[in-house]
Amino acid sequence: MKLPASIRSWASWPSTATVPTGYDPIVLSARRPTVGLPRPLVIGHRAARGLAPENTLLAVREALAAGVDMIEIDVWHIDGELVVMHDQRVDRTTNGVGYVQDFSLHDLRMLDAGYGQRVPLLEEVIELVDGRCSINIELKGPDCADAAVEAVNAALRTARWQREQFLLSSFDHEQLARVRQLDQYIRTGLLLAGVPYDLASYAQQLGVSSVHFSVDLVRPEWIATVQGLGLWAFAYTVNDHCDLAWLQSMNIDGVFADYPDDILAQLAATAVPRVA
Ligand code: G3P
Ligand code: CA
Repeated sequence: MKLPASIRSWASWPSTATVPTGYDPIVLSARRPTVGLPRPLVIGHRAARGLAPENTLLAVREALAAGVDMIEIDVWHIDGELVVMHDQRVDRTTNGVGYVQDFSLHDLRMLDAGYGQRVPLLEEVIELVDGRCSINIELKGPDCADAAVEAVNAALRTARWQREQFLLSSFDHEQLARVRQLDQYIRTGLLLAGVPYDLASYAQQLGVSSVHFSVDLVRPEWIATVQGLGLWAFAYTVNDHCDLAWLQSMNIDGVFADYPDDILAQLAATAVPRVA
């Protein structure tokens, strides 16, 4: 569905963030090598929710300015478009009231998502990032898989993007299976709030390239299991330096951070050598 330009345009914000113009993104290999990354990837959580209103273009700009390796955003499928927001309801993050799925796209786009920001479309985020880092699109609402695959393939038709820069994740594992059914190459990430029985075969069956653990429910042996399969192991949400050091001691491959600037600075300051 295409909207009039007046609705598609997003509010400008007097951001002080200087978005880098260079293009030198870290792109993960399809299979995790035996020796991992020199430091964990830093993934801006809900773009960079500690630095700007979450899941807005302003937060994306802040994440890019911080130098993140990847931006994570949440999407819902509304009136044929993928819109970027987290909750089932709009109340916490906008000036509206009610369930996201009860809104038309038009009305959703009229809301203020903080500092005059609109609820962005996924395509606006992709356009703004323009290949400068990777994007993790979390399929939050139902029936997002088909539209997300379509959006990734549309981006890949432009020069700036490599397929490996896109990662589709979800707590809804049916949607991960649907992505794999639609496209055997797009990377998927298994989002876990706990751990299924026989994690190894579960992850392999779904054909994911990464497993995303909650920092509150992660164990070294689970990370080792995942990495032993050649998959990347990430943890969410990491805002505490002690948690970061603890996860580094377990050889975590990437962390989702509300304050990616702080986590990047901490990693630079400590530069802990990795074991494998
Ligand atoms: O993808 C990691 C993290 O974003 C999952 O939790 O609730 O912040 O979407 P949530
Ligand atoms: Ca998320």
